[in-house]
Amino acid sequence: MGFEMGDTSVPGEVHRHYERLADTYDDNWAYNPDYLWWMAARIAEALEIEPSDRIADIGCGTGLFAREVANLVNPQLPLQCVDPSAAMLKQLDPSEGLWPIQASAEDLAQRRVQLPHAPLDAAWMKEAVHHVADKGATLAGLAEQLAPGGRLLIVMLPATIEYPLFSEALKRYEALQPNPADIAQHLTSAGLRTSLTYVEHQLTLNTERYLAMVRARYMSLLSLFSDAEIEAGIEEIRRRHPEPELSFPDRFAFVLGRREESVSPSVPSEVPGSGP
Ligand SMILES: C[S@@+](CC[C@H](N)C(=O)[O-])C[C@H]1O[C@@H](n2cnc3c(N)ncnc32)[C@H](O)[C@@H]1O
Repeated sequence: MGFEMGDTSVPGEVHRHYERLADTYDDNWAYNPDYLWWMAARIAEALEIEPSDRIADIGCGTGLFAREVANLVNPQLPLQCVDPSAAMLKQLDPSEGLWPIQASAEDLAQRRVQLPHAPLDAAWMKEAVHHVADKGATLAGLAEQLAPGGRLLIVMLPATIEYPLFSEALKRYEALQPNPADIAQHLTSAGLRTSLTYVEHQLTLNTERYLAMVRARYMSLLSLFSDAEIEAGIEEIRRRHPEPELSFPDRFAFVLGRREESVSPSVPSEVPGSGP
């Protein structure tokens, strides 16, 4: 498995969080293959992916959604899976047409790492944009890597969520989560034709499983809490939700930017030396 190495420029605590989570990351969703398929189908549909497209999943994690998208689209080139975490990328199976590239979004945007199959026709970044410090500059750099007609999709949680988390976690979430409308504005400023839509599906899962996910800090937000705070939070969730199954809406913002096709100049360019 060949990694393209970059100066991944990801803060230490974020990096450590994902290195720790990598081995068990897929377990959080393995019980719910319908969700993976549903999300992959929404991504492929929004990006209008064609098999001949050069594709990248930026902040791909273990590549669990890239694998589903590859199954749906059957791309002719390997799907480029970009993530700064080596532990996450180690979970990828290159035989499934996925190509691991160790880099951050910033590495790509600033061209510290070059993608083997570029410029991009279709790229997405799911639940990773909140880790990018300078969102305007990085999204502008990514937009520059699109081919004419290329699409960039940012999939992110909305400004508020209805997860059955403890109240302090929800409060911190709302303080920290970037607003999808601001992300849309960054894509517009980068010269892309931009739209903001939402997709939603109902998540139903065993309460104990959800509590185990909270204990495993399945959201990076939860890594801001100490073990004692997590245990107190779990007790709060148990008090509020004594039911054996939790069911709640999982809503995602889809911020889509499209680079215009090149417009052929209406006046033919002059050939040097051909004038009178
Ligand atoms: C919540 S996980 C999402 C993984 C996958 N996209 C998914 O939806 O399951 C966030 C991922 O973003 C990666 N990440 C963190 N900082 C990043 C950055 N600056 N650029 C790109 N990816 C980053 C992490 O290593 C992690 O794999």
